[in-house]
Amino acid sequence: MCGIVGYIGSKQVAPILLDGLEKLEYRGYDSAGIAVYDGENIKTVKSVGRLKVLSELTHEGSLLPGTLGIGHTRWATHGAPSDINAHPHENAEQTIAVVHNGIIENYSKLKGNLEKKGYHFISDTDTEVIAHLLDYYYKGNPLEAITKVMHRMEGSYALGIIFKEYPDEFYAVRKDSPLITGHTQEGSIIASDVPAVLKYTRDVYFIENEEIVKLTKDSISFYNVDGEEIQKESKKIEWDVNAAEKGGYEHFMLKEMYEQPKAVSDTFSPRIKNGEIVIEELNMSEEDIKKIRKITIVACGSAYHTGVTAKYVFEGMARIPVEVDVASEFRYRNPILEEDTLVIVISQSGETADTLAALREAQKRGAKVLGIVNVVGSSIAREADSVMHTWAGPEIAVATTKAYSAQLIALYLLATKFAGVRGQITGDEQKEILDDIQRLPVQIERLLENKKNIQKFANRYLAADQVFFIGRGIDYGISMEGSLKLKEISYIHSEAYAAGELKHGTISLIEEGTLVVSVSTQKDLYKKMISNMEEVRTRGAFVMAVSVEGNLEVEKAADYVLYIPKTNKYLMNSLAIIPLQLFGYYIAVGKGADVDKPRNLAKSVTVE
Ligand code: F6R
Repeated sequence: MCGIVGYIGSKQVAPILLDGLEKLEYRGYDSAGIAVYDGENIKTVKSVGRLKVLSELTHEGSLLPGTLGIGHTRWATHGAPSDINAHPHENAEQTIAVVHNGIIENYSKLKGNLEKKGYHFISDTDTEVIAHLLDYYYKGNPLEAITKVMHRMEGSYALGIIFKEYPDEFYAVRKDSPLITGHTQEGSIIASDVPAVLKYTRDVYFIENEEIVKLTKDSISFYNVDGEEIQKESKKIEWDVNAAEKGGYEHFMLKEMYEQPKAVSDTFSPRIKNGEIVIEELNMSEEDIKKIRKITIVACGSAYHTGVTAKYVFEGMARIPVEVDVASEFRYRNPILEEDTLVIVISQSGETADTLAALREAQKRGAKVLGIVNVVGSSIAREADSVMHTWAGPEIAVATTKAYSAQLIALYLLATKFAGVRGQITGDEQKEILDDIQRLPVQIERLLENKKNIQKFANRYLAADQVFFIGRGIDYGISMEGSLKLKEISYIHSEAYAAGELKHGTISLIEEGTLVVSVSTQKDLYKKMISNMEEVRTRGAFVMAVSVEGNLEVEKAADYVLYIPKTNKYLMNSLAIIPLQLFGYYIAVGKGADVDKPRNLAKSVTVE
């Protein structure tokens, strides 16, 4: 949801900004812009379209001299994507420039007030209000103007601000939108996310809500909303610099699919010690685990889908009732959280606005919240009562793959741990499950090797206008994710259904040649799935089945079968999702879609 970057130092700033924006482009890509102080004036260049356009306009930044600047890549909220609505925004005299990630909720009231005072607006954005409001309050002291503006604004914002009168410094502010800062070798930098700064520093300061940062070439100072200086500690980032590069792959998505064995293994390895599951971060004694009466899982999108699978795993294995909710519903539905309810929020970015709000809502109601989070230092990681990190490394493609797979592993470990502590599985059963978890990376690797066949099959369906995914139990959860992967990157309409539910209405959409993807990995449900496959096939559907090696029965009811290796029934999702990711990917590639940056989307959804 918009990426911002800013730099001051001794190097030419424009190429640094463009490089940072490229790393943040997954956060939004409908327009981009930079503002640079060139020694006399603030020069702004911005354009609708991808960053590439901005890069061409500025000759890779070489046309813009100067060592202080801010940049922005946009995912439009207020105001359609256009040159005028692109950031940075400025005051009329072009002495103040602002980039913004977030939404100013009271912007129309502020705009009305400013218009009465004679301010003239040229864009449809909420951000332009900030530039004019800063202008209104600025009487020569940037910090004072910023704190006054912060007191007036409602909503979320991460800001980068330059003042022409202060060419040796710039400012950053954060409230409910992510922002980090750090020293480079010869300057200071801000960015919305770690990948943009990794090249320069691994020691990063996570800016907290309502904090202000003043950056000069040699120093970074922090202030609270009253303008008082505060001290902060930096955090070391362990991510590999190359992890945020494409490394020879055609797309980040493909590279990240191939990184799944490592993401999975990195997530379970530190937590399996001498045959035991050790989750130090959990902060829960065995007594606490035994006391849990209900688990509520809250997340969005793919992370929500891991929650759907986890419901079957926790209930089946640990016999704990589980409720799963999408965060945007949970936060407004007056949820019932009783004593001894454990709330688990799941998020790759750790910044998803609805998930963060759900976490806060749960805490407000007295619940303890466990976060399953990929990005270290993110808002959810910092605010949750305990955090279990997934070690997937930076995920750049908008459609998640490796973070999703790592989330599943974290959930399996938790469920197995809870089941063991609560006496629902024996020590031997736990050992078998852990052995199976440890085999997953190699099995995933094997499944990835089948990409050529899946590509061939996918090429037959490039013209499909709808696809259905069906499954029962855990396979329903897998179907939801398979369907999302396909539709979000290929733009083919697809739906996931609990297989038994299709005949209650949706089956009327099945016609000659409709592709139905049937996921059947659960032995006790094979027969039921075969009936459901036959139901659609007799109505003309072409059935592609994903099932487990040895289930030859499935071939009777399917037109095309992809087999996955055997594993514990609760772990099937980790394997069955691989061919479905590849299928969605190759359909999108075949259609010439922009796989890593699907239209209308952004990776980290920091607005409601
Ligand atoms: C889909 C996808 C999204 C995210 C969702 C939650 O491929 O990536 O559905 O899963 O936006 O994001 P996080 O996990 O960052 O909270």
